[in-house]
This record gives sequence, structure tokens and C-alpha cells, in this order.
Amino acid sequence: MRRKLIVVSNRGPVTFQADGSERRSSGGLATALRSLLRYHDVTWIASATSEEDRARAGTTLDQTAEDGSPYRLHLIAHDEQAYDWYYNVVANPMLWFIQHSLWELAYTPKVDRAFHTAWRDGYAAVNAGFAASVLTELERDPDTAVFFHDYHLYLAPRLVRDERPDTTLMHFVHVPWPQPDYWSVLPRAIRSAIHDGLVANDVIGFHTDRWRRNFIFSTRELLGEDVTQKTVTAPISVEPAEFDALAESDAVLTAERDIVARRPEKLVVRVDRTDPSKNIVRGFRAFELYLDAHPDMRRRVGMLALLDPSRQDIPEYAEYLAAIERETRRVNDRFQENGWMPIELQIDDNFTMVVAAYKQFDVLLVNAIFDGMNLVAKEAPLVNTRDGAVVLSENTGAHAELGEWALNVNPFDVAGQAEAIHEALSLDLGERRRRLEAIQEYVRGHDVSRWIELQLAALDRVSATARR
Ligand code: G6P
Repeated sequence: MRRKLIVVSNRGPVTFQADGSERRSSGGLATALRSLLRYHDVTWIASATSEEDRARAGTTLDQTAEDGSPYRLHLIAHDEQAYDWYYNVVANPMLWFIQHSLWELAYTPKVDRAFHTAWRDGYAAVNAGFAASVLTELERDPDTAVFFHDYHLYLAPRLVRDERPDTTLMHFVHVPWPQPDYWSVLPRAIRSAIHDGLVANDVIGFHTDRWRRNFIFSTRELLGEDVTQKTVTAPISVEPAEFDALAESDAVLTAERDIVARRPEKLVVRVDRTDPSKNIVRGFRAFELYLDAHPDMRRRVGMLALLDPSRQDIPEYAEYLAAIERETRRVNDRFQENGWMPIELQIDDNFTMVVAAYKQFDVLLVNAIFDGMNLVAKEAPLVNTRDGAVVLSENTGAHAELGEWALNVNPFDVAGQAEAIHEALSLDLGERRRRLEAIQEYVRGHDVSRWIELQLAALDRVSATARR
């Protein structure tokens, strides 16, 4: 059944460019949510992030998605100072770092006066702006359900709820939920407001039982409420047909020919945003240890790292990108010989190249410190043509579903990761094929439409309970 939905997320499906064209947004959230447009009648509310977006803000645009589905887009031009505080001080890094357990608590973070200002005049103000836009859209069509997304919008649901007690509200948290104690990084009033905003929803979704359980615990501890009945586990996924079509597209075939012409005998691939949570530096260190232990594999194996530069106005992210470049140079300097470089680094947002690399990997390395889901682990095996093996961090949401067929690693244990790369490259063909086909079959049977259905079913359950 097609439903009317107001989707609310910081990052919209596309960004308008200076020449008027649309650029598809990267990251797991925008990728998965674009699929909603095919199945439902969607009005999407998002932040304007380019000058061209700002020029289009304030009105509701009639848009057409890549696959021809119509949708409406409502972009918000926030006050620029408020947005900077909201995005660059509070949401990323503070909340992102808490939710991925990235703070080194002996030294960071600093919850100083500047942070309190950023919370009040940035995060809370931008959330109020989102809530106002939701209320405007609800006036146009009052029986639409509202579907909030992610850690940027924790305060907005409560603001909408106060004005519209009967509207159906759901929220999906695309990132991990850490253990209750880790939230004590934030002053009590702030962490309570975050939890209180979320429980204003009728349904709150998580990728795994592990994140959902932590949320139930921390809500019980902070607010004294049991929210078990409101929560749902719904692992996000991909649209397999989209990847099948992309894999055969002219652009990807051209990029793939380029990789094939240059590739070593064995190719280890990683695809990530340049985010500290992705554990890219430790991944290079693990590859170094692997080359140390297996000198016979030098010149025969290479790592291709396709990394999308992310959130570079935030010092922690700029420093992490610098660390990635330093570590690549160090490992390459140590091992390179006769034109062979162990690591090829491409810092770019190039989805065509990404899909080509997905087809060509012998080993896919996903070693995230923590990751809500990690869609790369689902996308890449779908189109792989080399019976490639997946090395997968036990702290990703994807591990809960695909762990059985992956080589599982602890993200901190670089020695273990080096060993897993070796094991992955040593598996015989039959075993590699069995594992890859099992992952493909699982992802095809648990695609993004199932993710959507699981949440809507949860919504129907709560509305039925409310009516009784
Ligand atoms: C993750 C988050 C999303 C975010 C994406 C890209 O997937 O869960 O909310 O949109 O990263 O990050 P960005 O800051 O560029 O939107």
C-alpha cells in the first residue's frame, strides 16, 4: 500500500550544483532513503547544503528521482551560524563520536561554554527549524506520518508532538546506540533532552538488537521509562536491482576496464567516507603486518582504498584525512618496488569507480570501530565477479546478519586483521564461492523494501494498540 510520508533528514537525496544539475548524496542514509520514493508518496524535508540549494529553499519543489518516481522536496536554509554549530560542533563530532565510542575520554571532549552555546543556538535552533517545516507540511496534509532520521534530529519529534498530539511519528537511528554510561559524556539536561525527544515518537527503529537494547537501557536509566514496545529492529539494506543495472552500465564497465588493466593478481578493496569510525588507519597498519608476514605476496597483492572526503570543516575529520595520507605514504615508502605500490589511495566521491571496485575485489575489508550498519558490506558482494571474501568488523550492524559468511575481526586487533586478510586470500575457490553466494542470497531476500515494511508494520502495531 502506498502511504503518505514526510521524510525528515539533515542530508537530502540530492544537492543542487552551480550548473543547476543534481548530485546524488553519498552515505548510507541518503542511499537507502531514496528507495522509499519508489514505494511511497514522499515529501522530503532536508537542509540546504549548497548555494544552489539555498536558492531553492522555502518552497516545496516537485522532483523526479533517478528511477522516474515523483516526490516533493522541501529544503530549509538555516541560519548559517546556527547550522555550523549544529553540524560541525554538536551533531558531528559530539553526538557522532559518542555514538561510535570515539572519544578519548582522558582528553576529549570539552563541554565548555562554547559547546553549550552551540547546543542551544545551533542544535536546538536547527531542530526547531525542522519542526516548523514539518508543521507547515502537516498543515497541507494532516494525516501524513512523519519519519525522522538520525542523530541530527533528536529534538524535533518532541517539538512536533507538542503541537500535534495525534500525528504518527517515527524515527530511525542509523548509527549505533552506545552503552548507557557512555552518554554521561554529556551533561544530564542534554542527554535527557536527547532521549526525551526520541521517545516523543510512536516508533523508534535501530539496525540491530544490540543498539536497540542499549537504547532501552539508557532510556530506562535516564527517564525511568520502559520504551521496549515502541522500539523495532529493522536492518537497513539496498536495492539489488539498482546494483545489477549499475554493474552493467557503460560508465562502470569503463571504470572496471581501468582497474583490470592496473590491478595486481590479488586485490583488497575498501570503500569508506574518511571518517574516524571507519578505522582506515588501522586497516593500513593491518595490511602492512600482512605484507611483513608474507613477503611472497609483495608485488602480487595490492589494496585499493576509495575514500570519500567527509566533514572536512571539523578538525577531527581533517586530522584523520591527514593521518590516512601519512599512513599510506609510510606503508608505500616501506614496501614499494619496481613500480608496485601496496596501497592505491583515491580520495574522491566517485560512485562509478566504487561499483567497478566492488566487482573486482578478492578481499573486501570492512573493519569499522563501530558502524550502525555499513552498507558497503551488503552492496559489494552483490556485484562481485571474483568470488571475493569479506573481512568484517564484529562491531558493525552488518555483522549481525552476514557474520556467518564473513571472516570476522575485532577492529582494534590489527594482528587479527592481518591474519584475516591472509585467511581470506587462502580460502579455496569452493569455499569463497559458497560464502559469497550465501551473502548475495541473503541480501536479495532482505532488501530495502523489507526494511521499509518492517517499520511500517511496527507503526501499524502501535496505531492498532492506540485505537484499542
Ligand atoms: C552516515 C549518517 C548519515 C549521513 C551520512 C553522510 O551514514 O548516518 O546521517 O548523512 O553518514 O554524512 P554527511 O555528514 O555527509 O551527511
